[in-house]
Amino acid sequence: MAAPVVDAAYLKEIDKARRDLRALISSKNCAPIMLRLAWHDAGTYDVNTKTGGPNGSIRLEEEYTHGSNAGLKIAIDLLEPIKEKHPKITYADLYQLAGVVAVEVTGGPTIDFVPGRRDSKVCPREGRLPDAKKGPQHLRDIFYRMGLSDKDIVALSGGHTLGKAHPERSGFEGAWTKEPLKFDNSYFVELLKEESEGLLKLPTDKALVEDPIFRHYVELYAKDDDAFFRDYAESHKKLSELGFTPPRQSGSSSKCDTKASVVLAQSAVGVAVAAAVVVLSYLYEISKKSERGAGLGGKH
Ligand code: HEM
Repeated sequence: MAAPVVDAAYLKEIDKARRDLRALISSKNCAPIMLRLAWHDAGTYDVNTKTGGPNGSIRLEEEYTHGSNAGLKIAIDLLEPIKEKHPKITYADLYQLAGVVAVEVTGGPTIDFVPGRRDSKVCPREGRLPDAKKGPQHLRDIFYRMGLSDKDIVALSGGHTLGKAHPERSGFEGAWTKEPLKFDNSYFVELLKEESEGLLKLPTDKALVEDPIFRHYVELYAKDDDAFFRDYAESHKKLSELGFTPPRQSGSSSKCDTKASVVLAQSAVGVAVAAAVVVLSYLYEISKKSERGAGLGGKH
């Protein structure tokens, strides 16, 4: 489908939708499932075939009925009234904006959001998202296929600071942290403990402490929440923009052009004034000299 035109009117709708999302997510305490929806729409990306990714295709039955997406229809339905209120905004942008707002309203870092994603009706085949029962190599296979790095794998896994697993959806049960509606670095703190009473650790979570490269980041994020917030915001932005080249915003580019023209015009006036001053002083000198010449001639 065609890319949306990101003009001033589109940006205004994005601002309004952002406000509606804040209200919805806070009132319904649904930040975790919104973040999971954004991640599952984006996480199907294949950097080699340039297919999948944050393109809203998860709204289609063919995709939301994939086993790994169990439960996400709830989030899709919660977002539908916002889509109806702001029909200009693509599903792809709306789902990623919901993910960004979910992190923000639960106390997480501010994630830069650039709109302009196009919607797709093509669903990726089932099996592109990670299998929670597997280990480090599987995580690398899946995230490298998206074009992401070891650091991205660990930082993004920190998304499990929010929410919980539901036995009827995934077969797993429980939350990863004691405050699953607060976005902080406690996922990593709990991961490094031998025993976290009543808290969940998926095999893929445990893989992060077993693998020495992953573990380096887990230890860093457990002791330095600023480092976690910085890296999380960066990795989340990458995830939300997989396969997406932000369009030039017509509003801002014309603003830049206007600024450049003003600077050019000012320089041109400056040069013209300087040239006029030089010419006038030259003419003045000539007229002075000829006056002096005329005066001398009179004395002879
Ligand atoms: C690294 C590989 C990952 C695996 C194997 C994995 C697996 C899972 C599983 C099995 C659940 C439980 C679903 C349920 O029963 O409702 C879950 C929930 C969740 N995941 Fe992940 N996940 C991964 C990465 C991520 C990433 C990258 C994010 C976000 C950046 C994320 C965010 C979430 C959230 C917020 C929930 C809670 C949803 C809720 O409370 O409804 N996950 N994940």
